[in-house]
Amino acid sequence: MAREGTKKQAPNPPLRSAQGQALNQNGSGQAQAGQGEAKSPLPPFNKGGAREDLNRPSPPQAEKGKGQGLLKGKEEVEEALNLRPRRLAEYIGQGQVVESLGIAIEAAKKRGDAVDHVLLYGPPGLGKTTLAHIIAKEMDVGIVTTSGPALEKGGDLIGILTHLKKGDVFFIDEIHRLPRTVEEYLYSAVEDFAISIVFDKGSHARSYRSRLEKFTLVGATTRAGLISSPLRERFGIQRALDFYTMEELCQVVRRSAALLQVPADAEGVVEIARRSRGTPRIANRILRRVRDYAQVRHAGVITRPVTQEALELEGIDGEGLTTLDKKFLETVIIHYKGGPVGLEAIAAVLQEETDTLVDMVEPFLLKAGFILRTPKGRKATDKAHSYLGLPNASAEERQLSFLPGQR
Ligand code: ADE
Repeated sequence: MAREGTKKQAPNPPLRSAQGQALNQNGSGQAQAGQGEAKSPLPPFNKGGAREDLNRPSPPQAEKGKGQGLLKGKEEVEEALNLRPRRLAEYIGQGQVVESLGIAIEAAKKRGDAVDHVLLYGPPGLGKTTLAHIIAKEMDVGIVTTSGPALEKGGDLIGILTHLKKGDVFFIDEIHRLPRTVEEYLYSAVEDFAISIVFDKGSHARSYRSRLEKFTLVGATTRAGLISSPLRERFGIQRALDFYTMEELCQVVRRSAALLQVPADAEGVVEIARRSRGTPRIANRILRRVRDYAQVRHAGVITRPVTQEALELEGIDGEGLTTLDKKFLETVIIHYKGGPVGLEAIAAVLQEETDTLVDMVEPFLLKAGFILRTPKGRKATDKAHSYLGLPNASAEERQLSFLPGQR
């Protein structure tokens, strides 16, 4: 059986379910006790950890749904994957990050070594997962992906680690949500490429030290601040991804439109980029919605008016603000007189999780200058007031304080 995600042949590849998950030798996905001197004691391996096929056809051959109008579900996900760059040379934006990863990859290849562990952080949709896949592709190794919350117990992690092949990339998304007990297994795994597994309890306790193949851990997080320092310190490469510039987003939209074979004029491209909140994932999502709209309601060409019409229907405004963004700003301005106000109070009014607001809403509102984070809480800026056409009570107070008799 050819090993997925690499050209090399594996001597004893783990069994796999139809979904590509590795199974234990009995095919059950359950832990097996007393397996003797196997390389690994095979704990459950059903927590993500799917090995991915990096040799799937590249976009032009894999074109799905071309000219078929609205795409749904699986097809849409597949199409989104096909828009991702596979190589560093195709990757647009994040100039310094790409350059330093390129150097680390080239150096590791020259040494015949694995790339040092990489921590990527920044708001969602900026390309952390894409870069993890690119590292694996450039190194010509496999990639196994999972996420912090999927790894509930030490055994979940051990099952993945003991099946990694030499040089593999092990990608953990949302690494800040890794349970502490699981995180502790990672320390020796990433530092010494070995793990100690303890069987039984009390006087029967025995420990088994298992050597691992040298691998590259790529961790991704939207909250670098929530990662413990012992874990953070173990990443040799730590890079922040930033929002994309308009020019970079235009390049992303042009590239994706070409891959989807949808005609878009220059103004249409700019209009999509302008509303994408500095985020390629949003640019690609908007592009697909506008493509659908252009195909159904117009002649199939993406222009500025077509984009404007389509995005009005989607509830995305001229700056790319969504209904939730605007409700956030209105809450601060109307309920809390422009702030400062704590995040929990805003979340309570909006009936949203604070995590959603911190990860999905606030980063762009901060970057675009609609809100400020102060020690006392969030404040709406003058720009937010004028954007929503709402009077700025605190600015009026400031002005009044300059009038005679007001001091
Ligand atoms: N598609 C999504 N993100 C991209 C990027 N950074 N470069 C090229 N294409 C992309």
